[in-house]
Amino acid sequence: MQTSTGFTNLAEAVIARCRRLASFSEDAGGTRRTFLSPPMHDCHREVSSWMQAAGMTVSVDAVGNLRGWYPGASSGAPRILMGSHLDTVPNAGAYDGILGVVLAVALVESLKGSKLPFGIEVIGFSEEEGVRFGVPFIGSRALVGRVDEELLGRKDNLGISVRKAIQDFGLNANEISKAALGDDVLGYIEFHIEQGPVLESLNRALGVVEAIVGQNRLEFTFCGCANHAGTTPMNLRHDALAAAAEWIVTVETAARQTMGLVATVGLVEAKPGATNVIAGEARASLDIRHASDRVRTETLDELIRQAESLAARRGVTVKWRTLLAQNAIAMDPFLTNQIEQAIRDSGCGLHRMASGAGHDAMILAEKVPAAMIFLRSPGGISHDPAESVHLDDVAKALECGHHLLTQLAASQEFLGRTCRA
Ligand code: GLV
Ligand code: MN
Ligand code: MN
Repeated sequence: MQTSTGFTNLAEAVIARCRRLASFSEDAGGTRRTFLSPPMHDCHREVSSWMQAAGMTVSVDAVGNLRGWYPGASSGAPRILMGSHLDTVPNAGAYDGILGVVLAVALVESLKGSKLPFGIEVIGFSEEEGVRFGVPFIGSRALVGRVDEELLGRKDNLGISVRKAIQDFGLNANEISKAALGDDVLGYIEFHIEQGPVLESLNRALGVVEAIVGQNRLEFTFCGCANHAGTTPMNLRHDALAAAAEWIVTVETAARQTMGLVATVGLVEAKPGATNVIAGEARASLDIRHASDRVRTETLDELIRQAESLAARRGVTVKWRTLLAQNAIAMDPFLTNQIEQAIRDSGCGLHRMASGAGHDAMILAEKVPAAMIFLRSPGGISHDPAESVHLDDVAKALECGHHLLTQLAASQEFLGRTCRA
């Protein structure tokens, strides 16, 4: 059995590969690789070459997920899925999502051609962040049959629909149903950076995810009256941006007053958008998350009421639309226990935790047993170029993955599971 020291060379390769993928970007001087953007072709080419070298057959499904297939010992063997996402936020780091894909490929590589009682499908999901179309998880939604006509018709900032983006990437949206999971899937396992400070504060290299918190994403539009900034007295204005600003503070206050709630307005746009014009329209995003679905939805209802009431007081209107309503999801208890055992066998301390970030695992968990392993995030930093990992932690994650595959291959309980897909 290899020790984590035995995985150091592979861990170095994993980190170098993540950094190489970070160079495939829509922006010069930073990493931004949104759903089906041109640099995703370069990313696919590179990851495909690593997959093929590890003995995998590679394909791209109709929603742009990169899929590498490493067969099992027998022709009718079931499969496990491993992976994460290949898209990024703007001005991203090198590891969010990417690490989970690259690490899974490296685990297959470490098998050196030996076969397990299950095949391994490594998936690089095309879309998890929701940057281009405002809707996250488009890649994993295709696997659970949740890409519908409404989603295909959504447009990006340039007026390009999801359907057209798929066509422009050289794919056929009419074939999305073929991306769906078959009934031979035993489970999905995702490695991901924690993206927060908890593991570092506990001096733990790895963590086991027990649950992923629920989240809503909405877009609010305040409509007032655009007018001259010099001639319109303050008491005769209907300033859409001032209304949005007051509401944003309301959002922050509600989140501060509700234990465990996080709420963020990360995007604001004012129209017409000039220094000397009172804004006639203001658009504001909302991202709200809590481990309890009840607390999250009750707070959201209250924030909507507050938006309506402050808009009425200011003589503006407000409307909103929901882009995502995702309940909290528990990870599979059997796989979670197996991961704990693998972490212990890698010589690491244990920590079970909830994930505040959304992950492809929460979508796949609707259909198949899903589980996640977190790697410590130095400084707790993510969604930023300063995002990093420790070499030793990546080596431990590889060792843990190796133990996990060995355990699952020997588990009659796991191999005998029936699939829900
Ligand atoms: C994914 O990065 C998220 O926003 O949770
Ligand atoms: Mn991610
Ligand atoms: Mn992310």
